[in-house]
Amino acid sequence: MRPETPAEIPAVDDVTDEQVRDLPPAAEPTATITPYRDGPLIVRGDFRLVDDEGNEIDPGRKTVALCRCGKSGIKPFCDGTHKRSGFSSGSAPSRPRPSAQIFRRAEGSAG
Ligand code: FES
Repeated sequence: MRPETPAEIPAVDDVTDEQVRDLPPAAEPTATITPYRDGPLIVRGDFRLVDDEGNEIDPGRKTVALCRCGKSGIKPFCDGTHKRSGFSSGSAPSRPRPSAQIFRRAEGSAG
């Protein structure tokens, strides 16, 4: 597996669904989802996008930016509105989710 290089990742102010369209798919055969600081979720690789009824949403390409600020006019895709709306969020969680902690505890006790 090849790690992403900074040159392949656009700067946070440049991230919209339109601007990631020409990025090459991730090197690994599965999807990679990157939460951008103060921005969208970048999905790269092999993935299926479906609505909450299981209907296919054609992403049109192998790299998309999904809105996580809730303000996009083209949900589920990012249109860059997160910049104007002042959306703020880290890239990684500052602490593990409670369910992840429970899972880790269960895994630790099983071994
Ligand atoms: S994350 Fe970009 S418009 Fe919502």
